[in-house]
Amino acid sequence: MIQVRELTKIFGNQHSLDNVSLEMQCGDRVIIMGQNGAGKTTLVRAMLGEYIPSHGQVRIDSFDPFVQRDKALARIGFVPQLPPPIRLSVQELIRYAVVSSGASWEKIFEICTKMELDVKANMHKLFFKLSGGMKQKLLIAIALARDPKIFIFDEPTANLDPGGRAIFYELLQPYQEGRLMIFISHRLEEIGDLVNRKIEMDLGKVVNDVVL
Ligand SMILES: Nc1ncnc2c1ncn2[C@@H]1O[C@H](COP(=O)(O)OP(=O)(O)OP(=O)(O)O)[C@@H](O)[C@H]1O
Ligand SMILES: [Mg+2]
Repeated sequence: MIQVRELTKIFGNQHSLDNVSLEMQCGDRVIIMGQNGAGKTTLVRAMLGEYIPSHGQVRIDSFDPFVQRDKALARIGFVPQLPPPIRLSVQELIRYAVVSSGASWEKIFEICTKMELDVKANMHKLFFKLSGGMKQKLLIAIALARDPKIFIFDEPTANLDPGGRAIFYELLQPYQEGRLMIFISHRLEEIGDLVNRKIEMDLGKVVNDVVL
């Protein structure tokens, strides 16, 4: 489903990704680990077509995410490490997600409720004025409601309280079959039951790739 071939990304004179090659298939539930600055977020951003590779290529179900972005992104539900500064109200953001991806209002509300986010009470608040954990919960709910074939979560529980983390992992259980899931996380102990493959990065390279 995802093919990364000899991918290098250079910012200035820094190799943030250095000749990375990877294949990820349906059924893989991958944790990507590595120190701060190792290149994890750069790798997933390249998968989302946000960066032009300096060298090499990425394919999402055979689509180049930089050239055929719509087709590639339609297959991916992404929850970012840092929520973007979206200047829409919660209601407008949900409406946008519903119109652009076919997720239903009901499903988004249902998942928010499970995550203990009172979305109806915050409908008219601007997204960027929500707390960090509330933003993360809403973005998780939208990603799950879209139900894509590929999920990419970049440190999705970083802003969640312990209860929120437990609920998040519980919510993912029914999504395990027939999909590819990628988690960037520093917490293998938290996520260990869910993943079946561990990729470690260091200095822009994949230094370890093991089946768990
Ligand atoms: N847009 C950019 N412009 C310049 N440098 C960048 C850019 N994006 C990433 N980098 C650099 O690439 C390196 C890898 O960053 P990246 O965000 O991929 O690390 P990470 O593994 O996700 O780290 P963390 O665990 O802190 O999230 C860093 O040195 C970072 O400064
Ligand atoms: Mg990162």
